Amino acid sequence: MRSLIKGSGSVLPQNCVTNAQLAAQVDTSDEWIVERTGIRQRYIAGEGETTSTLATEAARKALDAAGMDPASVELIILATATPDHTFPATATQVQRALGCRGGIAFDVHAVCSGFLYALGTADSMLRTGMAKRAVVIGAETFSRILDWEDRTTCVLFGDGAGAIVLEAAEVAEDGPGILATRLHADGEHKDLLYVDGGPSTTGTVGKLRMKGREVFRHAVVNLADVLGETLDAVGMTAADIDWVVPHQANARILDATARKLGLPAEKVIVTVDRHANTSAASVPLAFDTAVRDGRIKPGDVVMFEAMGGGFTWGASLARL
Ligand code: ACO
Repeated sequence: MRSLIKGSGSVLPQNCVTNAQLAAQVDTSDEWIVERTGIRQRYIAGEGETTSTLATEAARKALDAAGMDPASVELIILATATPDHTFPATATQVQRALGCRGGIAFDVHAVCSGFLYALGTADSMLRTGMAKRAVVIGAETFSRILDWEDRTTCVLFGDGAGAIVLEAAEVAEDGPGILATRLHADGEHKDLLYVDGGPSTTGTVGKLRMKGREVFRHAVVNLADVLGETLDAVGMTAADIDWVVPHQANARILDATARKLGLPAEKVIVTVDRHANTSAASVPLAFDTAVRDGRIKPGDVVMFEAMGGGFTWGASLARL
């Protein structure tokens, strides 16, 4: 049994904020942001736009692309670090909005790697027969946990959502589907990237804190390791990959990871310039962008990868 990717969808908030617009409020410049990160603009959720509304729209588009009735969805996993409420899980509100009540719905919290964790979990559940059809979503409103006085972090992030639809099917060995997923975590480095609030500590939501330089160093090493491990799991090499869809944190991390693997830059999908870092949403957002602009096609071998707070990191290899 394999989990086949049947469709994808994504959505960005209405309000686009360029580096120049940000520089009017924060002590920064377009040149600094572009040179250090590759980011040129980001989308910021406005009134009425929440993690669940963005997630629901992305899921609807993915179901449309898959030609699938929302009522047939039995499993919804939503990766987010910015839920609408501490509870219930935002996935349950997406389920209600989609009109597919009664199945399984829950959130996964692995920050920027959340989509990989959600994908790995959904794949396992489909392969063991707990559900036949799943919607896996990454959705975030990170703008609401940014310290807008802290120029070292607030310029890096944006809001958005992406989703894919999975369906379980028996296929031939060389057929489509998710081929392997590898996930990791190491709680040792919590202080390098975290939010300084929470229901059980401060009773507040808190703001994002990051030691960017150290995060960068760990990201390149961990990502190269997990990409190699995922390829080894199915006896493939970097040469077998048609596209890498990485977490979009920083153009320099993307370049460094591709170089370490010996992958040409043209095989790496880059949206960080337009979307900034949308945490758990960035991988499905980048994937959907490249599917809809015709780069990623049926039959292609695609590597998804991400690294984020925790630290958590992971990779997943799929044939479309
Ligand atoms: N505008 C202008 N100047 C700035 C800004 C800003 N927005 N932010 C920091 N600076 C200044 C600093 O104050 C510092 O000035 P100083 O030398 O006078 O003290 C100088 O720029 C250099 O600061 P560094 O933090 O050393 O800059 P660095 O080259 O490391 O770049 C960055 C910072 C972009 C955050 C980088 O470390 C990075 O990308 N790290 C990866 C972190 C990341 O992407 N995390 C996302 C979450 S985890 C993940 O998704 C993988």
